[in-house]
Amino acid sequence: MTPRKPVTDWATDWDHLDPRWQEDPFPIWDELRRSCPIAHTERYQGAYLPTRYEDVRAIANDSTHFSSRRVIVREVRPEPIPSPPITSDPPHHKPYKQMLLPPFTAEAMTRLEPKARAICNELIDKFIADGSCDVAQQYTRHIPVKVIAHMLGVPETDSDLFIRWIHQILELGITDDVVLMQAVREMAGYFAGHIAERRDNPERRNRPKDDLISQLLEARIDGELLDDQHLNGMLRLLLIAGIDTTWSGIGAALWHLARTPADRDRLIAEPALMPTAIEEFLRAFSPVTMAREVVEDTEIGGCPIKAGNMVLLSFPAANRDPAMFPDADKVIIDRKENRHSAFGLGIHRCVGSNLARLEMTVAVEEWLKRIPRFTLAGDVAWSEGTVRGPRQLPINFSS
Ligand code: HEM
Repeated sequence: MTPRKPVTDWATDWDHLDPRWQEDPFPIWDELRRSCPIAHTERYQGAYLPTRYEDVRAIANDSTHFSSRRVIVREVRPEPIPSPPITSDPPHHKPYKQMLLPPFTAEAMTRLEPKARAICNELIDKFIADGSCDVAQQYTRHIPVKVIAHMLGVPETDSDLFIRWIHQILELGITDDVVLMQAVREMAGYFAGHIAERRDNPERRNRPKDDLISQLLEARIDGELLDDQHLNGMLRLLLIAGIDTTWSGIGAALWHLARTPADRDRLIAEPALMPTAIEEFLRAFSPVTMAREVVEDTEIGGCPIKAGNMVLLSFPAANRDPAMFPDADKVIIDRKENRHSAFGLGIHRCVGSNLARLEMTVAVEEWLKRIPRFTLAGDVAWSEGTVRGPRQLPINFSS
């Protein structure tokens, strides 16, 4: 593959695949917010980058000019692949979204909590005697995979497959549409098998519908069952959205605590701070950046926006805007006001936020109970593209 042309001017030629962005995007966004709050690039067939909270909010709330039919900024623009509700605009969006809400209520999450805690402890059991581990590979990666596999009703043992597809769709697929389409086809085949198994097996059909695949198979919009393309798209979305997002959120929280003993010791001494600390980790290290396609010319924050471009909707940059968050660049685990946008803004706000919060809380709590002292033991590798989090996070806890 030819190496990417390095960025020379972030205001007119930004590139979210530039290694400097992957390593440490915060100074880039801070500078743009001061000098050019809506940057543009000719890369990716033309795309804008708003960095102020207000502008990100305005775009997320305007589906007339900014469509969700494409939600990732890619080199090529293949025909949109429906994964409702995330790729749907009004009026189609609402019925799909409503279908997904009941399994993710706060009450449903309370029932999941013992399972989530057991998963964390079983993982810690495997490496605690070693005195060190790669937290991203041996701990944070497995928690969301196991939970969402359990909810969907697919084998946890397929997790390597899930992680590969996500890497192909959200990272490699930004520049390689062959890899992207291969992963989409493989996922479609995988879910088609699980759907057929439920449809064709009367014994299974009559069992309580306790998994998400079975529930979606029976769901209706205007009295009609979902067609296979939309059903498959929803399942693909749930699997993708449920894994590396939370993997990244837990990883960034533990990365911060490994580098900041004062916060770590305070959380152990004052466990009641955990909910505000989790919100602060979500704000400061927001993992998810989505996109919109501009479908009509408009204007945002005084800047003309041309149809045909994409917009990189950086919730992470919005969350570092000092006009919205005092000391935005500091991690303050008892921050009082924190209306962050890590889970999105507007109609597409995250369906899985209760689940993500549960997994992050449980993962950090169980870790601190069993491994209260720990430090970074080497280089951290961050993912690139749509979801940002540590993919290699060596930690030492031997002393
Ligand atoms: C820390 C973890 C997570 C973060 C930061 C996160 C973030 C987001 C964001 C920013 C959006 C808005 C997308 C947009 O505006 O285009 C979103 C939507 C969504 N998320 Fe999450 N998410 C997380 C975990 C999860 C989990 C565990 C699930 C469950 C499977 C999930 C399911 C979804 C779905 C289905 C949507 C689409 C909602 C819609 O289009 O109306 N997410 N998420």
